[in-house]
Amino acid sequence: MSDELTYGEIYAPIYEEYTNLQGKIAEVNDTVAFLEGYCSGGSALELGIGDGRVAVPLSERGVKVEGIDNSCSMLKLLAKRTDLITAWEGDIAHFRSEQRYDAVYCVYFTFTLLSTREAQIACLRSAAEALDHEGVLVIELGVPGLDPLVGGQQTAKARLVDHENTILNVAVHDPLNQNLVSTLLWFSDTSVRRLPQRVRYVYHQELDTMAECVGLELGERWGDWARGAFSERSERHISVYRRSSP
Ligand SMILES: C[S@@+](CC[C@H](N)C(=O)[O-])C[C@H]1O[C@@H](n2cnc3c(N)ncnc32)[C@H](O)[C@@H]1O
Repeated sequence: MSDELTYGEIYAPIYEEYTNLQGKIAEVNDTVAFLEGYCSGGSALELGIGDGRVAVPLSERGVKVEGIDNSCSMLKLLAKRTDLITAWEGDIAHFRSEQRYDAVYCVYFTFTLLSTREAQIACLRSAAEALDHEGVLVIELGVPGLDPLVGGQQTAKARLVDHENTILNVAVHDPLNQNLVSTLLWFSDTSVRRLPQRVRYVYHQELDTMAECVGLELGERWGDWARGAFSERSERHISVYRRSSP
């Protein structure tokens, strides 16, 4: 299960192919343009840097990017792509950095891979400490869509179907811990890949409360990387926090 193998170790062998199918590579220019607005010519730290999907193009625009990841396999993929980025193996819930950054960011749904409330708050605290005085913390999160889980507590959903691939997500809800324990089943050609993971879903207002607990306040919230409005129809949000005014 995912408790034994980390997300990164499970996903590294298929990460590029998978994120491409999920549209995450197509949207990367918007992501990078958004982030560059806070750290142009300066520095940024990515929490859960992965294979550098976002960090590599951001560093190519002149930002000094560093990163943390707890997966050796992901860090190897990153090292193959670039030597412009310093990245180290570590836990994003508990890190200390001597350096202060213009932007610290945690994108995709990486923050929810911290599966307890304590780990999520610890991550926000570590991130807040790593910010320069005027620095920002940017977090991208999905909006939890739990209706099908109420009552039955289990769900199976088609995530993608095309001529070559069928990706199903089979999930069990643990409401006491706000955890979704799920397995992606990816059928392609003659293979079936089984990709387990555990996330702790968070509503945006809970994220704001946790951020306030560590001395941050919400500056902006958007519905997508092109700064579309966050509305009741949004499936994700991009939230930008700054140090609270004294
Ligand atoms: C969904 S991927 C996102 C990768 C990259 N940020 C991107 O947007 O493509 C999540 C990444 O976070 C890493 N990760 C998950 N939990 C972590 C933790 N507790 N500490 C450090 N890295 C973690 C995984 O290894 C993986 O590389």
